Formats: sequence, C-alpha cells, structure tokens
Amino acid sequence: MNIILLGPPGAGKGTQAQRLVEHRGMRQLSTGDMLRAAVKAGTPVGLEAKAVMERGELVSDEIVSKLIDAELTAMGADAGAIFDGYPRTEAQAHALDALLAQHGRSLDYVIELEVNEDALVERITGRFTCANCGEGYHDVFKQPAVEATCDKCGSREFKRRLDDNEDTVRTRMGEYRAKTAPILPVYEARGIVRRVDGMADIGTVTDAIEAILAA
Ligand code: AP5
Ligand code: MG
Ligand code: ZN
Repeated sequence: MNIILLGPPGAGKGTQAQRLVEHRGMRQLSTGDMLRAAVKAGTPVGLEAKAVMERGELVSDEIVSKLIDAELTAMGADAGAIFDGYPRTEAQAHALDALLAQHGRSLDYVIELEVNEDALVERITGRFTCANCGEGYHDVFKQPAVEATCDKCGSREFKRRLDDNEDTVRTRMGEYRAKTAPILPVYEARGIVRRVDGMADIGTVTDAIEAILAA
C-alpha cells in the first residue's frame, strides 16, 4: 500500500503518518523531516534549503525528488509508503509517478485532510516535538502524559521548529494554495482521492483513514 497524505501546514499529516507507522508498519516519507535532518547535518542540500524553509517557501523540486528516491531505494520493497508533504507541485507529482514505476510501486490513495485554515495557526504555533525520538506534541491538544517527559522514550528535551511562527505559517499556506492544491485534480481524475475531516480529534481522523485503507 502506498498513500499520499495531502493537506496544508498543520493539517495533521505528520501526526497521522506516525500513527499509521505504529498501527500498520508502514514507512513515513516526510520531505520536511528529511530536509530538517539535512539542515541539522549541514549537508550541501541542507545549506541550500535552510533559508528557503525559514521563509516558508518551497525547496526545489529536484532536491526533494532525489531525497524521496534515496528513501525508496533504502527501504526495500516490502513496507508500504506514506508520502507526507510530498508531492507539493505538479512537477513533483510527475516525478513521483516515475519514481513509483521505477521502484515497482503504485499509488493506492491520496488522502486529503480537510481543515479550516484559521485553526491551523493555533495548531502550528503550539506544536513541539521530542528532541530525541521526534514524537509530536501540542501545548493544548496533545500534552505528554507525564509533564515535560516524552511518552515514547522518556526524554525531557523538546524542540520547536524555526518556521512555526505566524508570519512564516501564512507564507507556507499561500504556497500550499498556489502550488500544492492544484495537483489534486490530477489524482481526482484517477479516482483515488479520499477526503477526511481533519478538524476532528486526532484519534477520529486516524479511524477515518484506517477505514479507507481497510476498504
Ligand atoms: P513540512 O515539514 O512538510 O511542513 P508542512 O507541510 O508545513 O506541514 P507541517 O509539518 O507543519 O504540518 P502537518 O500537517 O505535518 O501537521 P502536524 O501533524 O505536525 O515542510 C516544511 C518546509 O520544508 C516547507 O515549508 C518547505 O520549505 C520544505 N519542504 C518540505 N517538503 C517539500 C517539498 N515536497 N517540496 C518543496 N519544499 C518542501 O500537526 C500540527 C500540530 O497540530 C501538532 O502539534 C499536532 O499535535 C496537532 N494536531 C494534529 N492533528 C490534530 C487534530 N486532529 N486535532 C488537534 N490537534 C492536532
Ligand atoms: Mg509535518
Ligand atoms: Zn521521545
């Protein structure tokens, strides 16, 4: 099974991908996470991407498609793939078609998380993650069970993303509307788009996605 999770910044792509990884043993392929790792490691890709990401604009199609290709090669054929934050432009959607064919995979569903943009700023500015294992949290919607301690690994160190401020979030949303939303009709024409109410609580959204995958 290979699926795309599509939705604007803060829609819950990463949150749902992590849950599907746990429930179904699929692999999360998040270009945002890959780019942040490259920035942290100071690789050439990271050096090129850093300022672009801090402005909330899109990194070049070529860079992200190469990252996806490398991940698909590294993960082997058995596990299903969850594309989180990729593709984001028409060119990336074409590149993904080619990559999937090359790796002997096909796309089962594009799951669009439908959300109210006004609520997303609150979601994003309240977000933090475990600095050790990457588990995602939120100041209001998903606090660790034990205060300031990661549920998953027990770490007491957390971090926040540099691009999670209100100004940058608005730019990221503009990029989504202008460049990413227009790729939906391509997948609609193939009959593989499924819509989920992304404003429901986290578990309800997961149940809705699971129901689609089980159908
Ligand atoms: P990326 O990392 O992909 O960021 P994004 O698309 O802006 O999406 P987010 O990660 O902010 O949101 P999410 O949908 O994952 O939400 P989450 O689950 O965390 O990209 C970052 C940057 O990298 C881009 O701006 C670009 O520069 C570059 N980039 C990445 N991919 C690229 C590509 N393909 N091409 C070009 N450039 C690329 O949830 C948010 C918060 O809300 C969390 O705190 C969570 O706990 C909470 N939450 C989640 N679901 C719910 C719910 N149902 N109810 C209440 N709270 C919820
Ligand atoms: Mg994310
Ligand atoms: Zn952790």
